[in-house]
Amino acid sequence: MTLRGKHIIVGVTGSIAAYKSALLVRELVKAGAEVRVIMTPSACEFITPLTLATLSQADVVLDMFPQDRAKGTWHIHLGMWADLMIVAPASANTIAKLAHGMADNALTSLALAVRCPLMVAPAMDTDMYVHVATQENIAILRRRGASIIEPESGELASGLVGPGRLPDMPVLMNAITTHFESRAGDLAGVPVLVTAGPTHEAIDPVRYIGNHSSGKMGFAIAEAAARRGAAVTLVSGPVALATPPGVDRIDVGSAEQMHAAVMQRFEEQRICVLSAAVADFAPARPSDQKIKKSEANTDGMRIDLRRTPDILRSLGERKGGMVLVGFALETENEHANAERKLREKNADMIVLNNPRVEGAAFGGDTNVATLIFADGRVEELPLMAKSALADIILDRALALRR
Ligand SMILES: Cc1cc2nc3c(=O)[nH]c(=O)nc-3n(C[C@H](O)[C@H](O)[C@H](O)COP(=O)(O)O)c2cc1C
Repeated sequence: MTLRGKHIIVGVTGSIAAYKSALLVRELVKAGAEVRVIMTPSACEFITPLTLATLSQADVVLDMFPQDRAKGTWHIHLGMWADLMIVAPASANTIAKLAHGMADNALTSLALAVRCPLMVAPAMDTDMYVHVATQENIAILRRRGASIIEPESGELASGLVGPGRLPDMPVLMNAITTHFESRAGDLAGVPVLVTAGPTHEAIDPVRYIGNHSSGKMGFAIAEAAARRGAAVTLVSGPVALATPPGVDRIDVGSAEQMHAAVMQRFEEQRICVLSAAVADFAPARPSDQKIKKSEANTDGMRIDLRRTPDILRSLGERKGGMVLVGFALETENEHANAERKLREKNADMIVLNNPRVEGAAFGGDTNVATLIFADGRVEELPLMAKSALADIILDRALALRR
């Protein structure tokens, strides 16, 4: 029962290999997974929903627009439920839609809504598979962090011989179990502290200085660390995100509060990942009362600012054996500035991102990062899902710890 308790979505598309999805569902259920099947309309031409519902012991999702209108947001709930979505077999058509973010049926809509990793097992005729359009679409998905299960070469349903055949069950099951096993428990019991989100620095009781950080990167790191067994403390600025399962969350408002919350808990930590976008400056004398328009003269008004406490520096000064990971958001001289930050603040690794690079904007679900290490190594990573980047950051932090 290697997959006991895992929630897995199996997406089935209109490929001649769709019959193999029945075997996959059966194997997953036998391995202890809870499985939900979602089919494209074309897939139903190849295999009946009844077969897959019976094997998965659950209703199969077919309609984007269910009869029961109250269940209209099913794709969001199913997206949050899943630990893994695997599309097997994945047709050339569905791969193209996934690569370009189309959401014109239940399966493609769900693929956009899921927060979990995506696995794609292409299966098609050789000519479709080697076509430059398909290859480019697969490359896009790979860059974005999806795992591609390469098709096998052999005799195809059309009688042609070449790559395009959906691998047999042992290969598919091995890819799925390896996905869960490779990182499962590798942070078991390790205390990890993550900061996330922006801070709000009060100007008066109703106004503040803030920034565009959504907190998604830090929450993804906290979620990944908890999934891998860590004892996670998440110190979060004001964000509109749900607490990941198993994470101990502390909400704060200002940089000062975040500094205090982190300093109170840092001693028991083994890894600290400071991904919050902490304000560097705060109003020096916030007003107790709402500032009235009439208080400003006609040229406007001045707000004096003071420096806020530097959390990364404070931890760097006291870190002992802990692995300290900082984030740098730079819009010019990125590498030089990030390296200086790493040295000056005694961090072990800096995750550098530039919000102006496509795919790395605030609030999105993807990021483009460069990892800079204290020993001079630099690792440039491609555009990928924040969830995938979260695991890589933790992999590197763990390697530094060892
Ligand atoms: C008999 C038959 C077999 C097919 N096999 C495949 C296949 O293995 N892979 C594939 O990409 N398309 C295959 N197609 C074409 C797809 O069914 C078609 O592109 C469809 O639009 C896919 O829709 P979907 O991606 O929404 O499931 C096949 C079509 C037929 C008629």
